[in-house]
Parts: sequence; C-alpha cells; structure tokens
Amino acid sequence: MEKVEIVEVGPRDGLQNIPGFVPTETKIALIHAIADSGVKRMEIGSFVSPKAIPQMQDMDLVVQGLRPMPNIVKMALVPNSKGARRAFSHGITDLEMVISMTDGHNNSNVGRPTSESLADLEYLLLEVDPDSKLNLRIGLATSFHCPFEGLTPETKTLSNIEKMLKFRNGLEFALADTTGMATPQAVKSLAQQAIKHFGNDATFIFHGHDTSGFGIANILAGLEAGLRSFDTAVAGLGGCPYAPGASGNIPSEDVVYLLHRMGMDTGIDLEKLMQASDIAASIPTAIEASHVRKMPRETALSLAKVA
Ligand code: COA
Ligand code: ZN
Repeated sequence: MEKVEIVEVGPRDGLQNIPGFVPTETKIALIHAIADSGVKRMEIGSFVSPKAIPQMQDMDLVVQGLRPMPNIVKMALVPNSKGARRAFSHGITDLEMVISMTDGHNNSNVGRPTSESLADLEYLLLEVDPDSKLNLRIGLATSFHCPFEGLTPETKTLSNIEKMLKFRNGLEFALADTTGMATPQAVKSLAQQAIKHFGNDATFIFHGHDTSGFGIANILAGLEAGLRSFDTAVAGLGGCPYAPGASGNIPSEDVVYLLHRMGMDTGIDLEKLMQASDIAASIPTAIEASHVRKMPRETALSLAKVA
C-alpha cells in the first residue's frame, strides 16, 4: 500500500485566526486527541509575538501541559531566530520558519522583506544551530499567490529554494498556498519543478487552503507530481490573519477519507481523527469546513476502512 503522510497543522494554523481566546486546556485536549489518531507529525503551535498572534500567547503553557508523546514529532512555527530560541528552550527542535515568497506578505506577516528573513535564516543555521540539531522546514508562504502582489511567479519560489539550500542541504520546504488561490495546475507544476531541480537535496510538502474550493483537487495534483506529504487541519479550521480573504486549511478528515478510499495508507484512525475534529469544530467562533463531518459518520468510516 502506498504511504502518504498527513501533517496535522490544526493546533497552529487552525487556531491562530480564531478571534476568541481558546483556553489552554482546550488546545492541549485537541493536541492529545490528534496524537491519539495516529498522526505522526503535528504543528502544536507557534512561538510568535503575542502582539502579532494573541491566540498563541499561551504557547509556553501549552507545551508544559502536554503529556509525553514519544511517537509523534512535535513541530512549531517560528517567524524568526528569536522564536527558534524560545522553541529550543522547551526542547522543540522540529521547527517551521515561515518566509513569504513575496515582500508584500512577508512585510505584513513578519515585519520585514523576504531578503531579511533569508538573512535571519542563515544566522539561525550558522550561529544558533551550528551542530545541526534543528530539523528545519521552511514554510514558503505565498508560493502561489499573494494577497498584496497577486500571482507569484514560479521562478521566484524556485530561486529562493536554491538560495536556502546553499545555507544548508537537506531542508524540507512547504509549498504553501497561503491564500487558497492556487489551481491544481499551478500546484502540480511547482511541485514537479521543485522535485526536478532540488529533489536530491530537499524534501517537499504541500500546504493548502480551501478558499477557492480547490483544496482536494490541489492535493491530488500534488500526489500526481510526486508529493507524499500534505499539511491539513482537523475540521478545516485555519487561515493566516495577515492574508486577508484566506479561508481554512484543507480538512484532515476529508483528505484521510479520500486517501483511504484510494487505497493509500496514512496510518491514521479516521474514527479517532473525527473525535479530534469534534473538539476543533466545537470551539466557539471556529469556522468548520469539513465534508466528512456532514456525512453519516458510520457510512464514512465503513467506506474509508483500510483493507
Ligand atoms: N516570540 C515572541 N516575541 C517576539 C518574537 C518571537 N518569536 N520575536 C520578536 N518578539 C518580540 C520582541 O522581543 C519585541 O518585544 P518588546 O516589544 O517587548 O521589546 C517585540 O516582539 C517586537 O519585536 P520586533 O523585532 O520589532 O518585531 P515586530 O513587532 O516587527 O514583529 C514578528 C515581528 C515576527 C515577531 C511578528 O510579526 C510575528 O510574530 N509574526 C508572526 C505572524 C504569524 O504567525 N503569522 C501566521 C503564520 S504564517
Ligand atoms: Zn496556512
């Protein structure tokens, strides 16, 4: 059976945009429920400025409240080397540094142009992590479309990947459709080009949003291009507060349901994932967008049973 990795980003991307503060215990319960479903890698939150993303102001408490989860890679998003140091202080060494491919979004999201984020990344790799303890992935935000600059040329994303691989080989890159405006053709093309040019030196994952309703089609396009890892969020929560007009991530349960029905193996127990989705969907003011949640649950579970 072909294996496909689902990286759960609900506790980070899913929650960061919710207006009301989600209590620390709810965040912890959500992370534990996701871990129980068999997900192997999860973004548990972000070490960002509490002024920029008030929802993540309790990140230190969330990390302290987690039970040991030896079978899961806990990732956190960081916007700069300061965030990486905060994560290190909690023993979290699987990090995603977010760098937008367009200055417009990078300025809005992390307060500096892309070139300054690249310089900070180089500093992080050389000065903060000289022993390469860090497992770093770069979230290539606005790889397809920017809310301030429109469509992103493919060459821009590819040349930034090339620059970053000069800092360190073996990085993982998330091709991120931050605004959810990418077409399946664009996803397939960028993924193919990235794999063709840098597939020996880097790994790639697709991070999508479902704003245009192309989310599942974009996952299929990524699969066709050869990607085998995808970011998704339970109940389809999510969105970047600095990307106006973007809606939620592609719902994890919809993707797992589809992949299982296609005879692929995610290692995830859909019934348990739905329990995590129930927690996410019940958060007041959360906008859920799952299709599988609308199906009779027994039917969905029985159709998606992995043989
Ligand atoms: N975690 C916590 N605090 C941080 C921080 C981090 N990673 N990085 C900087 N800060 C603090 C600084 O120490 C400073 O604190 P002070 O006011 O008490 O002195 C304050 O934030 C401002 O620092 P500055 O360097 O001027 O940053 P800024 O105000 O321009 O904000 C970011 C820059 C990157 C910290 C902020 O834009 C941010 O956190 N963005 C994240 C956006 C995000 O998560 N988007 C969604 C995911 S794509
Ligand atoms: Zn996102």
